[in-house]
Formats: sequence, C-alpha cells, structure tokens
Amino acid sequence: MIKYLGSKRRLVGVLGDLCERSGARTALDLFTGTTRVAQELKRRGVHVTANDTARYSEVLARCYVEADAAAVDGPRLDAQLAELAALPGRDGYFTETFCRRARFLQPANGMRVDAIRDALAERPDYAKHGAILLTALLEAADRVDSTTGVQMAYLKQWAPRALRPLELRRPALLPGAGRALRADALAVAPQLGEVDLAYLDPPYNQHSYFRNYHVWETLVAWDAPEHYGVACKRLDCRDPATRSVWNGRRTMPGALAELLADVRARLVVLSYHDEGWLTLAQLRELASVRGHVEVLAFPSRRYVGAQIGVHDPQGRRVGRPGRLRNVEYVLVCGEAADVRAAVGPAERLAA
Ligand SMILES: C[S@@+](CC[C@H](N)C(=O)[O-])C[C@H]1O[C@@H](n2cnc3c(N)ncnc32)[C@H](O)[C@@H]1O
Repeated sequence: MIKYLGSKRRLVGVLGDLCERSGARTALDLFTGTTRVAQELKRRGVHVTANDTARYSEVLARCYVEADAAAVDGPRLDAQLAELAALPGRDGYFTETFCRRARFLQPANGMRVDAIRDALAERPDYAKHGAILLTALLEAADRVDSTTGVQMAYLKQWAPRALRPLELRRPALLPGAGRALRADALAVAPQLGEVDLAYLDPPYNQHSYFRNYHVWETLVAWDAPEHYGVACKRLDCRDPATRSVWNGRRTMPGALAELLADVRARLVVLSYHDEGWLTLAQLRELASVRGHVEVLAFPSRRYVGAQIGVHDPQGRRVGRPGRLRNVEYVLVCGEAADVRAAVGPAERLAA
C-alpha cells in the first residue's frame, strides 16, 4: 500500500465492521485514494465500486477492487513480474526529472522505473495484467522513495529506504468482482445505481492530492510533461481544471451538501477531521439531510511531516511542528434503525 495523506489505515477495521453489521451487499467508495477501505469491504464479500479523480487511484482500484484473484493467471503474472524485474535500467524522463533534477528516488532505481514503465507501455502482452503490473511498480517505487509521504518536496538527505534496490512484488489480489472508476465525485454520484452503503472521504483542506502525488500521476500517465519548481511538478498542476472543489474553503461546504443530497445509498458513512473547515455541529447539520446521524470519534497521530516541521532548502528548521494529534470523525447517516444496526457498542463507547 502506498504512503498516502488521509489514508484510513487505522479506521479500516471500524469501517469494515460497520459495513458488515449493516448487512450491505453493495458499496461505493467515492474518494478511494489508496483503495484501502474499498479493499476491506471487498474482503468482507461486498461488491464495491471504487472511484477517485487520481490516475494512480484508478490503477490501484483496477488491481485490488476490479481484478478477481480467482480469474487471474497467477503463474503468468509471476513470470511477467520476473521479466520486468530483470530488465536493465534505461535513462529516461523519470530518471532525469525525478532522480537528478529532483531527488525522489536514487537514479539507479529511477532507471529501472523507466525501463519497466516503457515496457508496460510498449508491449501488448502486458496489457491483460496491466493494472496489476503497474500497481506492483507504483508500490515498489513508493517503498524506495525519499519523501515524508508527499511529493511537494523530497528529503535533503536520502532516506535510508531509498538506498535499497527497487523490488517488484506481486500485489495481494482479492477474490470477487468490483468496479473501478475515475470520475469527479459530484458528477458521478447521481449517475450511479443505488448502493447499500456509500463511504465518503473527501479532501478536507487546501492541499491538492494532484500536486501532492504528482510523481505517481506522471508514472501512470507516462506523458513526460513539462514541469516547474524544485519538485518538478507537472505543468498542469497549475491548471485550474486540476483543482478540486474539495480543496477550497468556500467551495467545500456546498460540495458536501450537494453530495450528501445526491448520493444514492441506504447508509452514508462520512469521514472527516477536527482540522477541516467545518465544525462538528456544521457537519451534523449537513449530514442530517440523510436522516438520523451518529458521530464516532477516533483520536489519531498526524502524518510524519507535521511532526518533523518545516525546513528550508538548506535543511534549517523554519517553522514549528504542528499539532501531533487530531480527531477523525466518522458520521453514520440514514434511517435510524439502519444506523443503530451498523454502529457497534465499542464504537459508541469510543465516540
Ligand atoms: C482523504 S483522501 C481518501 C483516502 C482514502 N479513503 C484512503 O484510505 O486511501 C481523498 C481523495 O479524494 C480524491 N479526490 C479529490 N477530489 C476529488 C473529486 N472531485 N472527486 C473524486 N475524488 C477526488 C483525492 O485524489 C484523494 O485520493
């Protein structure tokens, strides 16, 4: 699983239990990110539709949500992974841009990324398992990157993990059917068929995922874009079309109200943060459009960058570390009986 801001690593068990208690057979994860939550629901036998605007999320969802482990040719997949792993490195766009101009990966690993990604783009025999092989490459690159988990900057000194060689591993596929989409949540929500449970985990501040994970966007798009700045961000990071309404203080509340009204689901489960722009009272008010609302609250540690603080290019600390802890809210909304059935006694105690 890639390192990802806002990833619900600590909440997956709670969300899986909620889903199971609700008796849901179908679910929608509208902001799926790493697909961690979608995977958990699929693991529990639910048919999941996983959506996100990010290209890398779509690839992860095609691999973990859409692909059926029982239908995948395992020996062939392993042979292809071994072939790709054995390719000699190639000095291409990825190495030059992200390993020399910027320093996200060691050049030796970057050259292997170039070679493997070129082979995936050029050889039709890789197409059948394309999303699975590309997921293996994304995860391999993530394991040897030199960041604090976002790609607006890289570490001044190489992270120890960056010195290890890139290693392709077979993704742990899940059995069963599912669906991957890449669409804007607000545009797609009214068009989708009704599901038993919709999980909403939108961005909650001004930081754009498109910019924070621009290296993975480029690795998937493989379009060698022009770039700018020390982090070599894609030029289209500046394009207003790549901005999300969820990253605007003024646009986010209206977007959430619209989504809560439009999403077609018996139960809606909304993740939010005590660091977001809306207070808990405002969230409750918005969520009440779905009927009864129960709020669960979970204290959690903030991502490592917040703990380290802000540094200038010479490595001097120029800002103070932010808060070290925050609270993650989970709002469960729907008919009162459905909500009560879904929320377990342990979660009520935690709230
Ligand atoms: C908080 S993260 C979700 C994390 C995810 N639940 C996980 O555990 O990995 C928010 C996600 O919303 C996506 N996103 C941003 N704007 C979007 C939009 N308009 N429609 C759909 N997804 C969007 C981002 O790419 C990001 O992956």
